[in-house]
Amino acid sequence: MKVAVIGATGVVGGMILRVLEERNVPVDVLLAYASRDRADGVRFRGANVPVAAATRERLAADRPDVAFFASSDDASAELAGALADAGAIVIDNSATFRLAENVPLVIPEVNPHAVRASDRIFPVANCTAIVLTVALAPIERAVGLRSVRVATYQAVSGAGRAGLDALAGEERGESPDGTFAAPIFRNVVPQVGSYDGDGDTGEEKKVAAETRKMLGRSDLHIAATTVRVPVMRAHSEAVFFETSRATSVDELHDALRKAPGVVLHEHGIVTPRDVEDTDLVHVARVRPESDDTSGTRFQMWIVGDQLRKGAATNGVQILELLIAQGCFAHAEAHAP
Ligand SMILES: NC(=O)c1ccc[n+]([C@@H]2O[C@H](COP(=O)([O-])OP(=O)(O)OC[C@H]3O[C@@H](n4cnc5c(N)ncnc54)[C@H](OP(=O)(O)O)[C@@H]3O)[C@@H](O)[C@H]2O)c1
Repeated sequence: MKVAVIGATGVVGGMILRVLEERNVPVDVLLAYASRDRADGVRFRGANVPVAAATRERLAADRPDVAFFASSDDASAELAGALADAGAIVIDNSATFRLAENVPLVIPEVNPHAVRASDRIFPVANCTAIVLTVALAPIERAVGLRSVRVATYQAVSGAGRAGLDALAGEERGESPDGTFAAPIFRNVVPQVGSYDGDGDTGEEKKVAAETRKMLGRSDLHIAATTVRVPVMRAHSEAVFFETSRATSVDELHDALRKAPGVVLHEHGIVTPRDVEDTDLVHVARVRPESDDTSGTRFQMWIVGDQLRKGAATNGVQILELLIAQGCFAHAEAHAP
């Protein structure tokens, strides 16, 4: 299998290379692309892989079987469609295709049934939405959800290499470089993504719309406030939810304990540093709202490494799901 990573020099692209290695995905040829050619390449399985500028012509000539996009909305919009039309599987970390009709938005632990044999483009959902949905899905299955409210505490690496550099620079005493809407060192910034100063930010809209799509609940009320914090890795979320029927912490714990991809902490807390470089979503502090008499209002704290489960790992898991479903059997049968 010939696998391309577009954006291989970025934080998500670099993590895709690592996760492909760690999970021993059957990659025969690895092709790496970025915005420009690089004399120094990227490392994959102990070897140096040259990095080429991603152009339509170059990708068409290289003919990958699978193309991971970890670059930008613009690059995905320009390059992904032609690859899919040529028969490649596209796994795209940008927002370009996520809400398109007839395009599945898949978390393999949550909605693997959303994949159809004819699909070629598989967007990876927004990282905050993935962490949230992994924790909400078992609750939706067990007792149903009536509404969800979430406040997020998002790591700087969610803004890519520029986000990490901005925090490191401010820690060294440099002036803020404009990556974030306000200084990030010793601060919290209640704006993630575009914001016109009135209403939701782009990130808040993505969290609501993509979570609804992945849960298959277009009617679900979701409200989000997304906040950037001076944490390097892993997003945290305080979630307030209402269930469709009365339930108990025991029943919610039971659903979460059995859920694939979830680690339940029945006691104590969990922090972003605890989950850095891991693939599971951690859930703690599940509790009823203190004055609730209906048995339907609860809160929980969730944490997940957004570079891994929120991006790279989820994309690689989609590829593993397609391999397991026999999507590449034809290509392998005809391989030289
Ligand atoms: N960071 C996260 O936690 C996260 C989570 C989920 C989804 N995402 C999404 O994943 C994508 C990558 O994000 P990131 O955080 O990894 O960003 P990043 O660290 O800034 O890396 C961006 C990568 O894209 C490449 N690139 C930029 N413009 C390109 C173009 N026109 N053609 C080809 N390659 C281009 C860059 O190459 P050069 O090195 O040549 O500039 C670099 O390799 C974005 O769509 C982002 O929204 C990020």
